[in-house]
Amino acid sequence: MTQQVFARIAGTGSYLPSKVLTNDDLARFVDTSDEWISARTGIRQRHVAAEGETTCDLAYHAATRAMEAAGVTADELDLIVVGTTTPDLIFPSTACLLQARLGASGCGAFDVNAACSGFIYGLTVADKFIRGGNARTALVVGSETLTRMLDWSDRSTCVLFGDGAGAVVLKADHETGILSTHLHADGAKKELLWNPVGVSAGFKPGEPNAGVRVLMTGNEVFKHAVKALDSVVEETLEANGLDRHDIDWLIPHQANLRIIEATAKRLDMPMDRVIVTVDRHGNTSSGSVPLALDEAIRSGRVQRGQLLLLEAFGGGFTWGSALLRY
Ligand code: ACO
Repeated sequence: MTQQVFARIAGTGSYLPSKVLTNDDLARFVDTSDEWISARTGIRQRHVAAEGETTCDLAYHAATRAMEAAGVTADELDLIVVGTTTPDLIFPSTACLLQARLGASGCGAFDVNAACSGFIYGLTVADKFIRGGNARTALVVGSETLTRMLDWSDRSTCVLFGDGAGAVVLKADHETGILSTHLHADGAKKELLWNPVGVSAGFKPGEPNAGVRVLMTGNEVFKHAVKALDSVVEETLEANGLDRHDIDWLIPHQANLRIIEATAKRLDMPMDRVIVTVDRHGNTSSGSVPLALDEAIRSGRVQRGQLLLLEAFGGGFTWGSALLRY
């Protein structure tokens, strides 16, 4: 009889650029206030990559920390997946750049672009590789330099985002690990949250940053996010025959404290069982869930054997969840 294989988190790591931009700093050059930003989003500050510091640089620091925590060397990696919507280059992928930096030559390496759900999408792919017996050790990273594509004169978007990266090393395990993953998308709503230029659709040379900027209808996105996350949380519980009180920790995408609180309420979870980093990190897109996970593990709050629910929602729209026993 063949033994069941799970993908289990063997180690986590994260990295934030050293430069911090507070709400008061922002209020110096855009018409906003600390009061508005904190009340509407819960964000108080965000980190911003230094000039020349790229998504791969952030990913490298997060990845090496995760590998060290897992006791895994580069030559042991069978797969590298990087969730990002802000790659260093159009190609090669950030995963290939990272592979070279790590010295992990030969294994499969690719990026996944699912905006803020990029880490959950990447984790899902890696889980399938391990469960299917095609990899024993996988590195999954969420890394972003979102501030590079912000219009700093648009107060409705520039106050929300920050830069950062998080990573996990997954290893094949016969006991437990990722129990289920659930992915969704709705491309018909793309114009509510997007960056509407690109290689094939064309850039806008006359516009600042050649037209590269995040555009968002925030209040509409908010409603869709709450609804989609409610539904994926229900789907996850149902798929695993669980009651909402069985979850030990909610590790949500960090876009807005009010969205996080809505999901916690749905799960009847007190906020002290929810990992919140949005106040200090802002929305780091694909970086947000693994950053929160790493912080929760390193602070000792999340313990081995506990049941964790990870979820995210982002541009596309994309959304998803992962239920795992740590
Ligand atoms: N400072 C001060 N006032 C502001 C600011 C600001 N930074 N931004 C907007 N306002 C004003 C607006 O102009 C508006 O003014 P008006 O009433 O005079 O027209 C007022 O504040 C209210 O604006 P809303 O957009 O309705 O505010 P809302 O309460 O919806 O909060 C926010 C906006 C924070 C963006 C919220 O809608 C949100 O968090 N949305 C979801 C974001 C998200 O989850 N994104 C998904 C992931 S991102 C990714 O995938 C890349």
